Amino acid sequence: MRKLVPLLIAWLVFVAVPMPAVSAGHNVQTPISTQALDFSTGVATLKTLDGLKPVVAHHAMVVTAQHLATRVGVAILKKGGNAVDAAVAIGYALAVVHPCCGNIGGGGFMILHRANGQNIFLDFRERAPLKAYPTLYQNAQGKVIPGLSTETYLGVGVSGTVMGLNTALAKYGTMSLQQVMAPAIALASKGYILEPGDVHILNERIKDFYKHANVGAIFLNHGKPWQVGQRLRQPQLAHTLELIEKGGSKAFYKGSIARAIVASSKHHHGLLTMRDFADYSVVWAKPVECEYRGYTIVSDPPPSSGGTTICEILQIVKPYPLAKWGYASVASLHYLIEAERHAFADRNTYLGDPAFVHNPIQRLLSPEHAAKIRADIHPDAATPSSQVKGSLGPAEGMHTTQFSVVDARGNAVSVTYTINYLFGLGQIAGHTGFFLNNEMDDFTSKPGVPNSFGLVQGRINQIEPGKRPLSSMSPSMVLRHGKLFMITGSPGGSTIISTTLETMLNVIDFGMNMQQSVDAPRFHEQWLPAKVMVEPGLLTPVVKARLEQMGYRFRQVHAWGAAMSILVNPKTGWIEGAADRRRPAALAAGY
Ligand code: GLY
Repeated sequence: MRKLVPLLIAWLVFVAVPMPAVSAGHNVQTPISTQALDFSTGVATLKTLDGLKPVVAHHAMVVTAQHLATRVGVAILKKGGNAVDAAVAIGYALAVVHPCCGNIGGGGFMILHRANGQNIFLDFRERAPLKAYPTLYQNAQGKVIPGLSTETYLGVGVSGTVMGLNTALAKYGTMSLQQVMAPAIALASKGYILEPGDVHILNERIKDFYKHANVGAIFLNHGKPWQVGQRLRQPQLAHTLELIEKGGSKAFYKGSIARAIVASSKHHHGLLTMRDFADYSVVWAKPVECEYRGYTIVSDPPPSSGGTTICEILQIVKPYPLAKWGYASVASLHYLIEAERHAFADRNTYLGDPAFVHNPIQRLLSPEHAAKIRADIHPDAATPSSQVKGSLGPAEGMHTTQFSVVDARGNAVSVTYTINYLFGLGQIAGHTGFFLNNEMDDFTSKPGVPNSFGLVQGRINQIEPGKRPLSSMSPSMVLRHGKLFMITGSPGGSTIISTTLETMLNVIDFGMNMQQSVDAPRFHEQWLPAKVMVEPGLLTPVVKARLEQMGYRFRQVHAWGAAMSILVNPKTGWIEGAADRRRPAALAAGY
């Protein structure tokens, strides 16, 4: 023990020394007093990221959660396809090789940055059935019935993925639907060899695969769990994909696929009708954009809360010298957590489907609003969440998937799409071969009353016929002087927002390369519950102790998010791809 004491003292001195700026060196003048701040740093944490390097390429890059889907994207690009062609091919391929999250039974968002500088948002989020109503998940006494929105057909929204992918291809792609769907159809019909990362995800929901014969017939191997090295074939999904490949979106929304979903929904007391599918449409819109330290963030407007919340947090922290304070330092964490707490309270109170409610985005992103929030932040104490006004949002599913593509011409695509929970509802309609979503759970089940997670939810996101539930999905781009700098996004329910934000900050403020940024331990604060989620390795003991003295409480969670990201390095011109360490089957590849 005596030998350990000097070592311990040396280490305490080491972590307590203010960390020098490691970032791109932005000279930010701070208007705040830093006298009361604690400069203990996360330098020990940062050291664990030493040596991490992204995959680099000259021309183009693809990063997805499953290596075969990445290979599909790269092959399309090498054949002369553009980023949209590759993204659509990846979207269909992930529905086969990453069935937990890749999908044709769910919905999502796309941000497209065109080589000509144009930024475009495509919303293919699920919609509530036309027979849905605000009290759908409540009993006669007005109590929310647990599981109704997540485990029954009442939780299924009208899928937007097929129309989203096909519409993007038709407008901005150069290849035919046949060309971009061929790889997915081959992977489904011939099958693919399962690797440890694939089997790990299948096993996460294995118990539910036994509950439904048509699910077990595919996702169990003769009644037993699939093993590493075995070949998973999905002939029913191959048939469904062929119907889409031949008949386009019509085959899905007006043909036998919609009929199969509606029949299954009726059989299981769901609400879906053929009219829900015939009425479905995707929406093109302008992304949310904001400036941060010379960079332009391009992200998602409502019905995603992602872009607005990320931009609000950035506007709040703009005057603080995060780079000087350092990654995972007491000061940086304090101000970032406070900013997240306030921005999430606003998110849950003010945002919803723009087709149904007004979203005060301009006000939330205004300098006046940011200044007002900064004035409420105490320099050396956490603000109790009870003192931050807001109306709670729902607890979202943590499983979704992100992919990023840049082509040799400079077109870039960022997509996050989801069936909400891992494998969504866990049920498949008849012999369609794909999992249905349980996205309706992203709606407010009952305003003003705690839901099954103990959360009180806002009326703005209440269920209405044809409405899109508020999402946190944040597929994003970062531009520098109008030129592509970063493509990022993540799965993870409400943690998507903090993961995407931190992936940007780790590069812009903390000077990390793309791989370090993606792999760095994360934190997440969402106003309520009042505990800050942290990944192992984020907090040094000294930093944790100091933050706890300031009033913070932490909940360590093993890992979350999977920020499949790309950086176009302005200094070298090289493209850096980073597959998140948290998805072992993921791959970044380029040429
Ligand atoms: N289902 C998660 C989200 O859309 O945010």
